[in-house]
Amino acid sequence: MLDIANIETFYGETQALFGSSLKVGEGEVVSLLGPNGAGKTTTLRSILGLSPPRNGQISFDGKDITRADTHKISRMGIGWVPDDRRVFPALSVARNLQIGIKKTRFRSWDIHEMFGIFSALEYLMDRDCENLSGGEMQMVAISRALLGSPGLVLLDEPSQGLAPKIVQDVMKTVTRLKNEGIAVLIVEQNALAALEVSDRAYVMDRGRIVHEGPARELLDNKPLRRKLIGM
Ligand SMILES: Nc1ncnc2c1ncn2[C@@H]1O[C@H](COP(=O)(O)OP(=O)(O)OP(=O)(O)O)[C@@H](O)[C@H]1O
Ligand SMILES: [Mg+2]
Repeated sequence: MLDIANIETFYGETQALFGSSLKVGEGEVVSLLGPNGAGKTTTLRSILGLSPPRNGQISFDGKDITRADTHKISRMGIGWVPDDRRVFPALSVARNLQIGIKKTRFRSWDIHEMFGIFSALEYLMDRDCENLSGGEMQMVAISRALLGSPGLVLLDEPSQGLAPKIVQDVMKTVTRLKNEGIAVLIVEQNALAALEVSDRAYVMDRGRIVHEGPARELLDNKPLRRKLIGM
């Protein structure tokens, strides 16, 4: 589904990624973990064409998307939930969701299905996004990504600042997506919660992938987990 090979990404002359390689299979949930500044968000930005890699290759759904236009990449079926849950603050929830609707070759979703996933959403439809709580904003951001009919969803720290109950809801949604055949690449500081719903995991440090393996391995092997992610 997604195949990243040896990418090197720069901000100006500063190199942020030093030859990272990573794969996500169809319907697979993969965690991308690591300390602050490791290059996790930069990896997502590279996939989306927001910070295109200078060297290396990225392919999605069998097609080369290295340095492709961000709009084109999103139309091919890559959904993104950014770390700041960026929405249009002056617009209503309903309008923000409508803007997200796209058709791809992957499963499409309608707004009523979103109410089935996030029951509170139905009662927020007329609200302006600027007045939403963090958890409500996250529901809108995830729903908007799904309405774009993705085959792969990139989640950047979806549990940040959310109450434990909402974190559980978000992780349940990840499993729901997997069951629908949608692949998920999830960046999380809340590593245990992410590993619980993941098939595999990568750990980054200072712009390099330093570990790759089954999620179960990091859940079960505490010394290894301590060494790699300090928890
Ligand atoms: N816009 C930018 N301009 C210059 N350097 C940047 C920019 N964005 C990120 N960097 C640098 O690139 C490196 C990787 O940053 P990145 O945001 O990918 O890390 P991260 O793993 O997502 O960290 P965090 O857990 O804090 O979100 C860091 O050294 C960071 O300072
Ligand atoms: Mg980040």
